[in-house]
Amino acid sequence: MNQNLILEAEALYHVYESSALDGNVVALRGLHVKVRPGEAVAVVGPSGSGKSTLLKCLGGLMKPSAGNVAFQGRQINRLTGPELVSLRQDTVSFIFQDANLLPDMNAMDNVAQPLRHQGASAAYARKKAEDLLNRLGMGSRCRGMPAQLSGGEQQRVAIARALITNPKLILADEPTGALDPITSREVLSLFARLHEEEEVAFLLVTHSREVASFADRSLELREGRFIAQHGNDVDISDLGNTRALIIDETGTMTLPPEILTKLGGPGKFDMETDQGKQILTLIRSESDKSEDFSQKGSLVLATECPACKYQYLDDSQECPSCGSSRPMVLEPDS
Ligand SMILES: Nc1ncnc2c1ncn2[C@@H]1O[C@H](COP(=O)(O)OP(=O)(O)OP(=O)(O)O)[C@@H](O)[C@H]1O
Ligand SMILES: [Mg+2]
Repeated sequence: MNQNLILEAEALYHVYESSALDGNVVALRGLHVKVRPGEAVAVVGPSGSGKSTLLKCLGGLMKPSAGNVAFQGRQINRLTGPELVSLRQDTVSFIFQDANLLPDMNAMDNVAQPLRHQGASAAYARKKAEDLLNRLGMGSRCRGMPAQLSGGEQQRVAIARALITNPKLILADEPTGALDPITSREVLSLFARLHEEEEVAFLLVTHSREVASFADRSLELREGRFIAQHGNDVDISDLGNTRALIIDETGTMTLPPEILTKLGGPGKFDMETDQGKQILTLIRSESDKSEDFSQKGSLVLATECPACKYQYLDDSQECPSCGSSRPMVLEPDS
């Protein structure tokens, strides 16, 4: 594992085991992630694509079924309990999809708590907590208990708590999901300042266009695989515009479903490569039709959302009604 990377994950797989009729859910299907110090990376993708699962595995909150995660070259599954605790305190902070505040402590004490854990005095920790809450527009709610705070206020407390230890990396799952546009912009400008002036690295899961464009690059996740990468000109409502395909360390490339559709579905392809220009051309093989690709028909984008039965009218890849990713279905040859 590379010591020059703040975060590195290799071949991450995760299966949620279930005895229910619909069986196991394969949430992550072999993911490689590299984040350099000070880099901001977004993870985008439809609901259910595995974003939260990925973040929990990266943060050591959940053990992946297979694969390695390392912070600054140190693999987390090789660390002892106390080493993991000190790594969490000194290097990485989390912001979860729900705020996860301690219910019996007011906002300020929730924020101060990670510093108290590091041995800071109560007065110092509270002062710093108050400063951060002020900067997040929460000054007047410092003494509110979590149950008395709105969803967006709780989220800002969670953000302040994540920032108080001056982490080098922040892992955040929809950090502005519960915030209105103005508050969300304030949080983003605070993140941008940390990113630009203090070289804090970010890995952010988001559905928001503004959050994604704050990131230096966005990884597009779909059904547990990265299918593409986008620069900071990403437009979440039309990912097709900025998509760059990724070939990972193992030489694996996952084609976005609509590109596979354009190629005429799965099959056998001849390749032409031009090493000088680094070009790869795929041409459907002459013998393609004579081979059995275990299906009689062609794969096309589903016309109906399997979750909410929405009828698709165009080529969108994500259900506008429920956010599920649009599957491919087999259309029998006529
Ligand atoms: N505890 C669990 N047990 C079984 N399956 C799960 C569990 N948690 C998540 N899953 C399944 O794993 C897949 C990935 O879920 P995940 O929560 O990572 O998606 P997500 O991309 O974060 O979605 P969202 O945008 O809605 O938050 C989904 O199919 C989901 O149903
Ligand atoms: Mg999620």
